[in-house]
Amino acid sequence: RAEVVINGSLSPAVVDRSNESIKHNIQPASSKWRHNQTLSLRIRKQILKFLDAEKDISVLKGTLKPGDIIHYIFDRDSTMNVSQNLYELLPRTSPLKNKHFGTCAIVGNSGVLLNSGCGQEIDAHSFVIRCNLAPVQEYARDVGLKTDLVTMNPSVIQRAFEDLVNATWREKLLQRLHSLNGSILWIPAFMARGGKERVEWVNELILKHHVNVRTAYPSLRLLHAVRGYWLTNKVHIKRPTTGLLMYTLATRFCNEIYLYGFWPFPLDQNQNPVKYHYYDSLKYGYTSQASPHTMPLEFKALKSLHEQGALKLTVGQCD
Ligand code: CTP
Repeated sequence: RAEVVINGSLSPAVVDRSNESIKHNIQPASSKWRHNQTLSLRIRKQILKFLDAEKDISVLKGTLKPGDIIHYIFDRDSTMNVSQNLYELLPRTSPLKNKHFGTCAIVGNSGVLLNSGCGQEIDAHSFVIRCNLAPVQEYARDVGLKTDLVTMNPSVIQRAFEDLVNATWREKLLQRLHSLNGSILWIPAFMARGGKERVEWVNELILKHHVNVRTAYPSLRLLHAVRGYWLTNKVHIKRPTTGLLMYTLATRFCNEIYLYGFWPFPLDQNQNPVKYHYYDSLKYGYTSQASPHTMPLEFKALKSLHEQGALKLTVGQCD
C-alpha cells in the first residue's frame, strides 16, 4: 500500500539561505496539480490518532470554571487563573461540531501574496482560515476578504496594536474585531505566560462591546499532539507554527486544502525579494536558529504533500 511520504527526498539542512527558494520550486505546476483523495483521507485518519480538531480546537465551558489554575504549555512553572471573562467566552459546543467543507483555504502571512491576485480565488473556498489577525481590507485583491476563522497569538496585540497604550489603539483593535463579523477568533491563551494580560484585554473588549465573534481557545494538549504527529512522520519541528497547526486541524473538516502565503524565504522562485509578512516590516528572524519555529522544515513537508496531491500550495500568482 502507498506510504505517506511527508519528509520527501529533498536535501536536509540548507545553509545558504539566499538560494533556498531555488530548491523549493513547486512541482507540479498549478495547472497540473490533482487532488489525491485517498491520501487526504489517510492523513486525516493518521492525524485523528493524535488529536481531534473538533474537540481540540477549543476548551469548552463544561470543562473549566472560574478560578481554575492552568499551567502554561511552554512555561510549565507558570500558571494562570481562569478569569470570569475567559470563562464567559469559552464556547459551549465546538465551533467545528459536525462541520465538513468541500474546499478550505489557509492563508499564511508571507509577502509572497503581494501582487498574487489571489483574493478572488481565496474567497471562493467554502471555509477560509487566516492567521494572526492579518489585515485584509487594504490587500483584498491579493488576499481576499472572507474569513471564517482567524487566529490571534497574544503577541499580535503588542506587535500590531502597540499593546493598546492609548484609546486610538484600543479603537483600532476594536474595529478589527468588529470586522470579523461572526467568524471564529482562535486565541492560544494557554501556550506561554507572556500573553496573560493581552488575552485578558481582548476578552474584556469583546464582552464590553458585544463584539460578534465566536471565541475559541485551543486545548491544552493540541500543541504536543500536533508536534507528535509530525515527529512520527519524521518532521522534526521545534514548535509548530500557526500555519502548520491550521493545516493539521483542517485535515479533519476539509476535503481539499489550499495553502496561500506560505513561503518562509527571502527570495521568490524568480529570485525577487519577498517580505516576511505581506502587511508589515517584520524581518526574517523566524527562520534563524534562535527562533522557536522551523518554518523552512515545515515548508519542505508541506511541499512534499503538495507533490503528492494531499494539499495545494500556491506560491506565485493565481490564474
Ligand atoms: N508563513 C510562511 N512564510 C512567511 C510567513 C508566514 O510560511 N514568510 C506562514 C507560517 O505557517 C505562519 C503563518 O504563515 O505560521 C502565519 O504567519 P505569522 O503570523 O508570521 O505566524 P507565526 O510566526 O506562526 O506567529 P507568531 O510569530 O505569532 O508565533
